[in-house]
Amino acid sequence: MAIVPVVNRESEYEQPGKAAGPCVMVLFGAGGDLTKRKLVPALFNLVKAKLLRDDFAILGVSVDDLSLDQFRDQVTGFLRAEDRETEAWKWFTQRLYYERGDFADVNLYSALGKQLGDLDRERHTAGNYLFYLATAPKFFASIVQQLGAAGLCNQENGRWRRVVIEKPFGHDLESAKALNREINSVLSENQIYRIDHYLGKETVQNIMVFRFDNAIFEPIWNRRYIDHVQITNAETVGVERRGGYFDNAGTLRDMVPNHMMQLLSLTAMESPVFFQADAVRNEQAKVLHAVQPLDSEEVLHFSVRGQYGQGMLDAESVPGYRTEPAVSPESRTETFVALKLNIDNWRWAGVPFYLRTGKRLAKRHTEITIQFKRTPFELFRNAPFHKLHTNTLVIQIQPVEGISLSFGAKIPGPVLRVGSVDMSFEYSRYFGADAYTGYEVLLYDCMMGDATLFQRADMVEAGWSVVDPVLDVWKALPPRRFPNYSAGTWGPKDAEELMERDQRQWRKIEA
Ligand code: BG6
Repeated sequence: MAIVPVVNRESEYEQPGKAAGPCVMVLFGAGGDLTKRKLVPALFNLVKAKLLRDDFAILGVSVDDLSLDQFRDQVTGFLRAEDRETEAWKWFTQRLYYERGDFADVNLYSALGKQLGDLDRERHTAGNYLFYLATAPKFFASIVQQLGAAGLCNQENGRWRRVVIEKPFGHDLESAKALNREINSVLSENQIYRIDHYLGKETVQNIMVFRFDNAIFEPIWNRRYIDHVQITNAETVGVERRGGYFDNAGTLRDMVPNHMMQLLSLTAMESPVFFQADAVRNEQAKVLHAVQPLDSEEVLHFSVRGQYGQGMLDAESVPGYRTEPAVSPESRTETFVALKLNIDNWRWAGVPFYLRTGKRLAKRHTEITIQFKRTPFELFRNAPFHKLHTNTLVIQIQPVEGISLSFGAKIPGPVLRVGSVDMSFEYSRYFGADAYTGYEVLLYDCMMGDATLFQRADMVEAGWSVVDPVLDVWKALPPRRFPNYSAGTWGPKDAEELMERDQRQWRKIEA
C-alpha cells in the first residue's frame, strides 16, 4: 500500500534558506580522502544552493607542496566533470586559498594568522574562522593547542572561531575524556563541533520529525506497546584502503559509540522542550546515560564479535579480512558486532535494543526496526490460514530511505485468511533523488552556529561508556574462532543465537 503525495513538490518543498555569514573555512587535511569524497562536493552543493555569501573563502592546509593554481586544480579534480568550468565553479575556485605546512610546526600557525588577516581584508570575511580538522586523529589535540597559542581561537568584537573535529574521537573512554580535556582547555564547548556524519543523513534527522511532529506514534513508543528494537547497519564493503586504521580500531570502536549510539539515542530519547542544540542534546545525553553498562558476565552473553573470511558477494569471490592490505594475517580485529542493550528508564524498562553492524555482509542496508507486541488476544487464531505477524515499523536509513509499517489484513476470498501487508513511504518518491552528501547540512550549520547535529563532550563520553566494558572483556579474552563468518552472509551464527535465546530473530532483509 503506497501513500500518494498530497503536496506539490515545487511549491511546498522549495527551501529558500539564508546564506551563511562571512567566514573563512580553514581546511586541515585539504588533500585527504574526506576532503575529496565529501567536503568539496558538499561545499560545492552549498555554492549551487546559494547558501554561501560572496564574503566566504576556503583556506586549504596540507603538507603537499602545491602552488595556489595547483591547489585549485586539485580541488577542481574533486568535483564531478559536469560541475567543472561552470559559473558556480568559477565562483568557488576564486575563493580557494592554500597554505603548505606541517601540522606540528609552530611556523604554520603564524603563517595562517597572516593569511587569515589578508583574507579578512581582501575577502571581507570579518575575522570569522571555521577550522575543520579533516586529519588523522593524532593531530586533533595538537592543532587545537597550536591554534590557541597563535591566538586564532579568541572570539572578540563579535567574531566567532569554531573548530570541527572528525571521528574517531578517542579510542576508549579514557582517551576520549583526555581529548575533551585538552581541547576544552583552549576552546569553550560552544566553539567545538564534533561531527558524526550519520547526523547529516536526512533519514536520521527525520527520526525526530517522525516521532515528535506526529501525534499518533509517541503514545505507543514505549514498553507497553513495543517488544524490542533492532538497529542494523550492514555494509558490503570491506576495509578497502583503510586496513592500517581499521586493524587497530575494529568495528566496535569504529561504529558503535558514534553512529549506532546516534541512532539509538534518537530512537529512544524523550521529546526535547525546544528544537534547539542544547535542549536536543540534553535528551540524547540523558538516554545514553541510561543505557545499562554491561558487566563482564553480560558481555559474554550479550555481545557477539565476528571477522569475515573469504566469501562470495554479488557472485564474485572476495578475500577474507586477514588478507586485506595493511591487515595482519593473524589479526583478531572484529569486523562485525552484535549487542543486546537495555535502557534503564520508565519508557524502556524491559525492552531490549539489539544492535548489529558489520562489514562484508550480504547487503548494504541500515535500518531501525520497532517491533510491536502481539495483540493481547488472538481472535483469528483458528482461521484456516493465519500468518502470525506483529506490527513492525521499519525506518530505513540507507540505501533505500523510507518508513514502512506492517499490519495484518484479510486476504480477499470467501475463506477467512489473514496475512501481513505493508504501508510504506519512500523518500525518493516524494522528494526525488537526494543529490546531497550529508555534509552540506553539517557544514552549513557550523557556519550558522547551530550545534544541534553535533556531539557534545558528554554524549561522546556516554557512547564510550557503553562500549568500554565490552572492549575490556574482549581484550582479556581474545577470540578463538576468527574468521567466523564468510563474506556475503549476515554475520556469525552467534548473532542469530543472541536473538534465538530470547525467542526472537533479526528482521529478514531481502538480499
Ligand atoms: C565511518 C566508518 O565512520 O562510517 C566506516 O569509519 C564506515 O568504517 C562508514 O564504513 C559508514 O558510513 P556510511 O555513511 O557509508 O554508512
